[in-house]
Amino acid sequence: MDQRFLDDLFARVDIVSLVSKYVHLTKKGGNHFGLCPFHNEKTPSFSVNGEKQIFHCFGCGVGGGAVQFLMKMENLEFRDAVEQLAQSVGMEVPKEGNPREERRRDRLYELMREAARHFHANLARPEAAAAVEYIRRRALAPQTVTRFGLGYSMDSWDDLSRAMKAKGYSEEELLFAGLTVRGKNNSAYDRFRGRLMFPIIDVRGRVIAFGGRVLDDSLPKYLNSPDTPIFNKTQNLFGLNYAKKSKLGKLILAEGYMDVISLHQAGFDCAVASLGTSLTSDQARIISRYTDKCIISYDADEAGQKAAQRAIQIFGGAGVSVQVLRIPGAKDPDEFIKKNGPEAFNALLSQSEGQTEYRLRIIRQKYDLSHDDQKVAFLREASGMLAGIPNAVERDVFAGRAAEAAGVGKEALLIEVEKRRRADRKKEEAARHREDISPVNRAQPKERELRYRDTASAMAEETLLAVLLQRPEHCGQAKALLQPEDFSSEPLAEIYRLVLAGKGDTVHLSTELSPEKFSLCTKLMMRELPKDEKRAVADCAARIRAEKLKGGAPAGEEDPLLAFRKMKAKK
Ligand code: GTP
Ligand code: MN
Repeated sequence: MDQRFLDDLFARVDIVSLVSKYVHLTKKGGNHFGLCPFHNEKTPSFSVNGEKQIFHCFGCGVGGGAVQFLMKMENLEFRDAVEQLAQSVGMEVPKEGNPREERRRDRLYELMREAARHFHANLARPEAAAAVEYIRRRALAPQTVTRFGLGYSMDSWDDLSRAMKAKGYSEEELLFAGLTVRGKNNSAYDRFRGRLMFPIIDVRGRVIAFGGRVLDDSLPKYLNSPDTPIFNKTQNLFGLNYAKKSKLGKLILAEGYMDVISLHQAGFDCAVASLGTSLTSDQARIISRYTDKCIISYDADEAGQKAAQRAIQIFGGAGVSVQVLRIPGAKDPDEFIKKNGPEAFNALLSQSEGQTEYRLRIIRQKYDLSHDDQKVAFLREASGMLAGIPNAVERDVFAGRAAEAAGVGKEALLIEVEKRRRADRKKEEAARHREDISPVNRAQPKERELRYRDTASAMAEETLLAVLLQRPEHCGQAKALLQPEDFSSEPLAEIYRLVLAGKGDTVHLSTELSPEKFSLCTKLMMRELPKDEKRAVADCAARIRAEKLKGGAPAGEEDPLLAFRKMKAKK
């Protein structure tokens, strides 16, 4: 984005008043403090500095400028956050980067919308009678068809291409959009033929791709758009454009397009589906922006249940709590609702399995409990799982369930669980102790991906950068003493490089660094400086050079301690 525009914008926006809309701030010295909105805490470690226009949380390590704050707070992309800020101060965002590239993308979006319109209009044509009949058989109401913009691709090699060309789109644009495919003799033909069409719409309401379903049992059942400059299937979710506005306060993750549509039609407007792939971590992260509670409602078959287990793990990494819905007597939510109606589905939702219940059931399914040795193995695995539950009441309840399943007394099982807990605690304490006493670990940044290899050098690098970021007038002195290559930490070296290039201001740092690295900068920008800055620069440079001479590996190579841990973990 245009740097000059961002400069202007950042000069007009006030981060203190922006943050105050969300966080109660109290002024202390030059900073404002409050409870961090990005993690749970009881004492304020979240600080905002009006002079530097940055925030940083010393508890969770996140930091940034006004844009980053708004992005995190409102779940926005960079551009959207900038737009919102610009609007709040009455500025207009200039068109992005290369205008020709922009124009090309704009035309792609327009083309996809035109294609969706065309498919939809096809439903009125007599040749689409089979599709209309299919829609009726699947019990999709006319309002649903309109709401989701469903359509039909004619059973023809060029029906769509001809219509789009008549609207001025080129052969190349059609290929680029994935709407046509190039054949053996180099001529292009329509990708989607004779299929019920599901437009995939992004959160900004733009058509970015299509899924197409056959009307009979032929294969492949679904055909999806390939990835294009405006579509990446691992980063979008079907139905999210509506689900994000849902008032239900949760998301339901289903497997298929049909499930989502059927759920919405039944009033569950919070349903989404990943696009013909198993859930990706990007999708989980996107979901976590909209809700901290996700209900997985996959197909009842084994494949669906396996996929659900994988999804639970992926969600674990995104901080979303998950429940798994069991659908009795039907293969998927669509079929269940058709059979039993929305009320029944609602009842399922309200009694949907918690993670513990689900995990216990999965463990149970592994064993044949009519054999004693299998019973013992089951109880052993179950007690291991139960030991991991922090809440005592919950532990007690599920120990009861497991014991009942195996036909043994709950007390004996609970004793076993407590034993496990003591053992686990001991292990954890030992691990924590190891971490605590190592200064290497204490000095590490909060972001795992930014681990320091040589902490002694990294501490000096941090101090040096803290000075330079706050007092750029010392850059000349530093540059004469030290090159970025002398740094031991690659992230810090990257920041140093920017600082030396005169890009040590928040505009450049925030746009050229990853959010993690920018958070590192905000920490340094908030740090109190040593009294004699010139002296500090000289001392740090000397320290860094000495460390380098001692023979640490150059920046970018792996931390030997980390490598050692990884090796051990593999074993
Ligand atoms: P119905 O069978 O009509 O109820 O559709 P569904 O949406 O329930 O489909 P299903 O449960 O069989 O599959 C779940 C999702 O996986 C679909 O919505 C598609 O996104 C994807 N999918 C299924 N079959 C195929 C296929 O043959 N090719 C591709 N690329 N994706 C598929
Ligand atoms: Mn289905």
